[in-house]
Amino acid sequence: MTADRIDTLVILGAGGDLTSRLLLPGLASYLASGRAHPIELVGADRSTETDDQWRSIVATAFGSNPSPASERVLKNTRYVRTDVTDPTALTALLASCRGRTALYFALPPAITELACRALSTLPLPPGLTLALEKPFGTDLDSARALNRLLETMLPEQQLFRVDHFLGKSTVLNLLGLRFANRIFEPLFSSPNIERVDIVFDETLGLENRAGYYDRAGALIDMIQSHLLLVLALATMEPPASLAEGDLRGAMAQVLRATHADTAASRRARYTAGRIGDRELPAYAEEPGVDPARNTETLAEVTLAIDNWRWAGVPFRLRSGKGLGVARQDILVVFKEVPHLPTGLTGAPGPSCLRISMKPATLDLDLVLNGEGDPFTLERTALRARLRDGQLSAYGEVLGGLREGDPSLSVGGDVAEECWRIVTPILEAWRANEVPLEAYPAGSEGVAASASRAGSEDQP
Ligand code: BG6
Repeated sequence: MTADRIDTLVILGAGGDLTSRLLLPGLASYLASGRAHPIELVGADRSTETDDQWRSIVATAFGSNPSPASERVLKNTRYVRTDVTDPTALTALLASCRGRTALYFALPPAITELACRALSTLPLPPGLTLALEKPFGTDLDSARALNRLLETMLPEQQLFRVDHFLGKSTVLNLLGLRFANRIFEPLFSSPNIERVDIVFDETLGLENRAGYYDRAGALIDMIQSHLLLVLALATMEPPASLAEGDLRGAMAQVLRATHADTAASRRARYTAGRIGDRELPAYAEEPGVDPARNTETLAEVTLAIDNWRWAGVPFRLRSGKGLGVARQDILVVFKEVPHLPTGLTGAPGPSCLRISMKPATLDLDLVLNGEGDPFTLERTALRARLRDGQLSAYGEVLGGLREGDPSLSVGGDVAEECWRIVTPILEAWRANEVPLEAYPAGSEGVAASASRAGSEDQP
């Protein structure tokens, strides 16, 4: 951690949905925490908002009961109309900012890239920090090119590649669970583990995000950007510390050993259906969607980690939108015991550990002697509710940014590895080597794959 705190946070793309829905509430959650330090907030975008209009956006996002720190930020915040791809406009914007400044790119990746190119032509103020929203680049080549450009501009410690999943307290629980207990870590390896599923199924549909999502799809939006980082935390070697170099290094190392089985990938998109009392139109008919792009709303991939610890264990990552049930968890299925003493009967299946992101719970399913006949085995669940973090995921991200701690932002090499892993799948899908399936909104998604069927067997 560095002691170099940010004095001014500039949100580029202030008028966007990400700003009002996630960044500003996250900032409010950080400001309400005991650890917040004063900060000046500037909103910047192309449209002609006034300071008052911007302040009203911030006030709405901060909610009806703002903390004293939020009220101070609200009182002093201002709006700047600017074109972030124009070097002259960026110079003026930076000159108007006080102290150490962070530019938060809440913008589509292509615009972020243009803005970084414009910035690279300028003398940058000391301590400038850039926070880049996911996806980082639009493919492996563009992520590499963006990293090479950023390296010429600022040191890595001043680059925050944001992934709010790294700020989720349930994802961070993986660190304590794995590295603060002797009982799991020795078992986390191929002799003991049958398979691992990382699933993030949502009931939400497109939510008016066609402009971004239709060019991304579930594989890039969720697996490339988020679930591969969850995989890294679940499978990396124990880091010596959570300092930036150790944590990012451990994540990068395991991702370098990770490869996709292209033939085992699946893609699908939802057709019209009902989720609870909501009717969802078919994805292909949503405004702004180009059906010919064949964008998937559900992606499932199987990965192998080719190292001593994990060789032979399949890792299945899946994420879908418009599903009937929001299952969001990491399921670790242990192998069956090598020999069950003769005389014990019943086959309730293997032990498994489920770390659920929503609701935040931890379930350890053990096979024990059952009720009634004590020689008949049955499954017993030990459940713990995981406590919510004090901050929202974006609150954690913005807190790290504010405090100059890049530990929980994505390292440049990690971002490239995530793209490298999905690239063969993207290519196979573009070449139509894997069919685009369909599932009705509100259903379980495409017909049960091994991953889904297996996990449904679990209580
Ligand atoms: C975002 C994706 O990064 O993460 C969305 O773009 C997704 O498509 C979201 O819905 C899920 O995260 P959360 O924290 O909102 O559940």
